[in-house]
Amino acid sequence: MTDTAKILSTTLEQNSQNTSNKPLLGVNVDHVATLRQARGVSYPSPLVAALLCEKAGADGITIHLREDRRHIQDADVYEMAGQLATRMNLEMAATTEMLAIACEVKPYWVCLVPEKRAELTTEGGLDVAGQLDLLKDYVSKLQTAGIKVSLFIDPENKQIEAAVTCGADAIELHTGSYAEAGLAGDVDKVSVELERIKNAVIIAKKMDSKLLVNAGHGLTRDNVNAIAQIDGIYELNIGHALIADALFVGMEQAVIMMKTAMHE
Ligand code: PXP
Repeated sequence: MTDTAKILSTTLEQNSQNTSNKPLLGVNVDHVATLRQARGVSYPSPLVAALLCEKAGADGITIHLREDRRHIQDADVYEMAGQLATRMNLEMAATTEMLAIACEVKPYWVCLVPEKRAELTTEGGLDVAGQLDLLKDYVSKLQTAGIKVSLFIDPENKQIEAAVTCGADAIELHTGSYAEAGLAGDVDKVSVELERIKNAVIIAKKMDSKLLVNAGHGLTRDNVNAIAQIDGIYELNIGHALIADALFVGMEQAVIMMKTAMHE
């Protein structure tokens, strides 16, 4: 290992312990690719966006290689894997095709997500409880390849329990219902959804103290703070709203603004 690689791996190890008590920020750059794919050209580059995010303090980069390849393409995954200074979190469906790609690319994290072709974005969490044997097998194969595995689930006890049974290294709690309640101006529902997420974190930590608990979906500078303040959350994964901010203020500033909103 070179000196630089040693320093980087030590920093990553320290980062991955996240002793700061503040959640890390993983930036999802899928929608940079959405813009590129809208014209079928070679720009804007999700890799360049990811490098700017890292420069501005992002703790990790998330990309979702969808089965329909609507935004991120296979070449993006391979290109990014060799160039990120932080950790790649590869979101993917539990399919044999994706498993083969992940085992070749070896991202730091794989986050298994449900996928429906007609959906606008990932709607609802993975039904881990309903496909326990299949997911256990995927978790184990990914871990054998040296990849840490997260499961994207709704904040429900039976899903948390199933994720623990699968041996996942982390869960990512779906914050979509919380975000949607906010957009609808339903203050009561926002409180209810926030409580569900808080309770889910407590239960997850009780079931398995080593399980990392992430959260994401629909988070914006306006709604992120309450989630970021929940004790025990390890990392937030944020895409759409941050990329939207970047259109006006640039990628680096958008990351800085999101981090400020999380931690203020
Ligand atoms: N986490 C997961 C598992 C997701 O599928 C997505 C959307 O791709 C996100 C987080 C980010 O959601 P958003 O783009 O709404 O910030």
